[in-house]
Amino acid sequence: MKPVIRSGSPADAEAVARLQGQLFPDPWSVADVTAQISLPNAILEVATSAGSAPDLCGYALGQVAVDEVELRSIGILPQVQNQGLGRALLIAWEIRAKSLGANRVVLEVAANNMPARALYNARGYLKVGHRLGYYRTGRTTAIDALVLARALVD
Ligand SMILES: CC(C)(COP(=O)(O)OP(=O)(O)OC[C@H]1O[C@@H](n2cnc3c(N)ncnc32)[C@H](O)[C@@H]1OP(=O)(O)O)[C@@H](O)C(=O)NCCC(=O)NCCS
Repeated sequence: MKPVIRSGSPADAEAVARLQGQLFPDPWSVADVTAQISLPNAILEVATSAGSAPDLCGYALGQVAVDEVELRSIGILPQVQNQGLGRALLIAWEIRAKSLGANRVVLEVAANNMPARALYNARGYLKVGHRLGYYRTGRTTAIDALVLARALVD
């Protein structure tokens, strides 16, 4: 069934944290997600399955600061990845950021995260920075971060 994309609220924090737990080795807690959603000019867009008891299947979360917006986290439920939902959610999130005054998006992505890099590449994001050994989780090898950016044009 085609997911529905809508703006999120702190009421979605628990579901976002649960989904993060399925996607990342170091997910945010419900309190962390709530704090992020509650920031001034925070933007949360969520995708839910259609139906009477919709389940969260994706989210994009960030914050506008003056004319720039930072994408802090995006995730799609593993079972529905690579079906165009990440792109649709990112586009909805970008449109909302633009409506709040942003004209540029910045984000960080792990250099070895090929699905995420493919998504950002498909949306026209370009590399503007490289942070050596930026991601260090547990005892795994440190992974570089790429800083990507894209203008929000009409
Ligand atoms: C990254 C993520 C959000 C992408 O969402 P998605 O719904 O799977 O992506 P889409 O189906 O919209 O695909 C967007 C583009 O990326 C490509 N892509 C998606 N998954 C891919 C994969 N596993 N391998 C290669 N390319 C992939 C698609 O082909 C598409 O490119 P195209 O338009 O040129 O064909 C999703 O994989 C995810 O949640 N990953 C885990 C969390 C994560 O890493 N978040 C990002 C942190 S920066």
